Amino acid sequence: MLKTSICGVKLKNPTVLASGILGVTKPSLDRMGREGAGAVTMKSLCHEERSGNNNPTMFNEGEVFLNAVGLPGQGMDSALKDFKRLDDLSVPVIGSIYGYTLKQFGQVTKKIASLNPAMIEVNISCPNIHYGENYDNSPSLAAKVTKICKKNAGKIPVSIKLSPNVYDIKVMAKAVEKAGADAITAINTLTGMSIDADTRKPILKAKTGGISGPALKPVAIKCVYEIYKTVKIPIIGTGGITTGKDAIEMVMAGATLVGVGTACYYRGPSVFKKICKEMETWMKKNKIKNLREIRGIAHK
Ligand code: DHB
Repeated sequence: MLKTSICGVKLKNPTVLASGILGVTKPSLDRMGREGAGAVTMKSLCHEERSGNNNPTMFNEGEVFLNAVGLPGQGMDSALKDFKRLDDLSVPVIGSIYGYTLKQFGQVTKKIASLNPAMIEVNISCPNIHYGENYDNSPSLAAKVTKICKKNAGKIPVSIKLSPNVYDIKVMAKAVEKAGADAITAINTLTGMSIDADTRKPILKAKTGGISGPALKPVAIKCVYEIYKTVKIPIIGTGGITTGKDAIEMVMAGATLVGVGTACYYRGPSVFKKICKEMETWMKKNKIKNLREIRGIAHK
């Protein structure tokens, strides 16, 4: 019922572990696959080791989850030794990479491609680091990143992860499609800030962070809806998806796959099984046999 495919990659269901959540090591990625995710995305890696930001890096209040982790990570060369390959896990793996320069985007893409992931996701849109250039906000720079990553990815499909912190996400989507992207991941986190009235200071050490969690869902749904209207390539719809009904709504906006990240915090790692069961219950009740029947249906 939930079987699906994207860019030729077959999945047992459309849920994907979003980047940055429990995807730092090979065993943790594999575990999330066994917990029920249809595919799993690694935490983004660049050419160098990064320690990330100082604490506090996370803050949760109700439906808002704010973080400025700062992309800590082991660096690509060390990851190559640890992961060895990415095609021998329980589910397809999406390798996630970024660079500060175009050249680095190309180099890290080539390195992750050597591990044979099912797809490569290019993170041009983390709100918590300085890339050196505004890849997330410039259609021409995003197109350049897409071209260099495509050139270095070989046959592995490339998805560009777009930011909601832009004036018009349609323009960004069109630019990366034209540059050869195979898919779009939408969206990364939305920038935000929380202040503690008692200390009279921003709560996060980095002051600003990225909002995820249920509060992000309407933003993500709107972005996926607009992207679906604009491009033909498939969309991995990510942002605030917590329940099966959320996932169905994301598919109705136009998503082929549905990213699940912060919901692991709210509902535990078994959230993938729970979401899939809830999707199936909704589908049975509404006499839907395949998600194709409802993909993008909100546009009609
Ligand atoms: C981080 C990276 C992201 O891409 C994001 O959306 C939020 C946080 C980080 O590691 O800081």
